Amino acid sequence: MAKGLIMDETRRSFIKKSAILCAAASLPVGFPAAPSAAAKAFAARDPKRVLILYYSQTGMTRRYARLIGCLLSERGLSVDFADMRAFGKRQPLDYDLLFVGSPVFYYDIPSNVVEGLAALPPLSGIPTAAFVSFGGPEGNQHNALCHALSLLEKAGGVAAGMAAFRSIPGYPTPNWDSANQRSGEHLPNEETYQQARVFADQVIDNVRQGKPIRYGSEIALREMLRMLPLVWLNKKAMGRHTVDGNACILCRTCVKVCPAAAIDPEKRRVDRDKCIACFGCLNNCPANAVVIEYTGKRLYGFPEYLKRRQITIVEPPEFQTCRFTDRLSATDSPGGV
Ligand SMILES: Cc1cc2nc3c(=O)[nH]c(=O)nc-3n(C[C@H](O)[C@H](O)[C@H](O)COP(=O)(O)O)c2cc1C
Ligand code: SF4
Ligand code: SF4
Repeated sequence: MAKGLIMDETRRSFIKKSAILCAAASLPVGFPAAPSAAAKAFAARDPKRVLILYYSQTGMTRRYARLIGCLLSERGLSVDFADMRAFGKRQPLDYDLLFVGSPVFYYDIPSNVVEGLAALPPLSGIPTAAFVSFGGPEGNQHNALCHALSLLEKAGGVAAGMAAFRSIPGYPTPNWDSANQRSGEHLPNEETYQQARVFADQVIDNVRQGKPIRYGSEIALREMLRMLPLVWLNKKAMGRHTVDGNACILCRTCVKVCPAAAIDPEKRRVDRDKCIACFGCLNNCPANAVVIEYTGKRLYGFPEYLKRRQITIVEPPEFQTCRFTDRLSATDSPGGV
């Protein structure tokens, strides 16, 4: 009997400890990175020339990037705005503040953004800020931002801000129907636009006060999903990935948006090894000519999804007066922003 009680007690204690451990694993535990030499040497300054680099597939990140640019130019700064895909090779970087915007794909910043940031010219102590747009569910954006900031710091930048803005999820599924999809269909909205405005002002304040931010990756269950080979798994779930020659109008939008040079509409083929499963070709094709089967069902892209759900994306009021064009554009405005 006493032995049974001890066993029960041991089991109870084991369950309790396991529950505590699980809860701890779900709660984000942060490890702030030690400040870099450039961050320690960072002094207050008044930025005048800003570069906003973005990567965007359905126009969400670009929209936030543009809004941040509008706000900074209202504040009297000179702003350049460029697609990261076109910018990587430009030297030198003649700016005194750099913003980088990326979507969250597969719980992280996409591999082409990682490569783009790694290829930046030396940043020589320039303050840098990272922002992401994401479709949810919440939880994995923080580490994606930390990843972007760590690459910017590696290039010699100083972290001056980070922010995540929720958006309509641009992740195609056979009927685009999930609780997450539905809950994000009204986004972006005035609330998320306001977050972007506040973020832009905060970054300027941090720079003017000479205050870099401290940031650090978190350990949480959702963040651990980043360790799985998600792109590879997804490509396994994708069946056919080709171009429908009858529907294709040879506009080459898919070629412009593909970050992996993997699609060839003339030959109607996709190089599956190069493809990083970003769905950019599908989500930007104006003719519904990109054929991707997912678990046996044909997917349709973002424009068709908006049409079928009768969704109109609400633009921020700033866009009526603030007219930016990309200084350097690799694409014809993904998502039509
Ligand atoms: C291939 C792919 C993977 C995605 N993975 C995530 C994810 O892991 N977490 C998340 O919050 N949103 C995810 N999303 C949603 C996007 O982050 C969201 O739609 C984003 O706002 C798209 O930005 P863009 O229009 O600038 O490309 C994913 C979307 C795609 C297309
Ligand atoms: S975007 Fe669509 S229509 Fe245009 S070339 Fe590619 S597959 Fe063809
Ligand atoms: S082929 Fe399509 S899904 Fe693959 S990387 Fe290029 S744009 Fe993305």
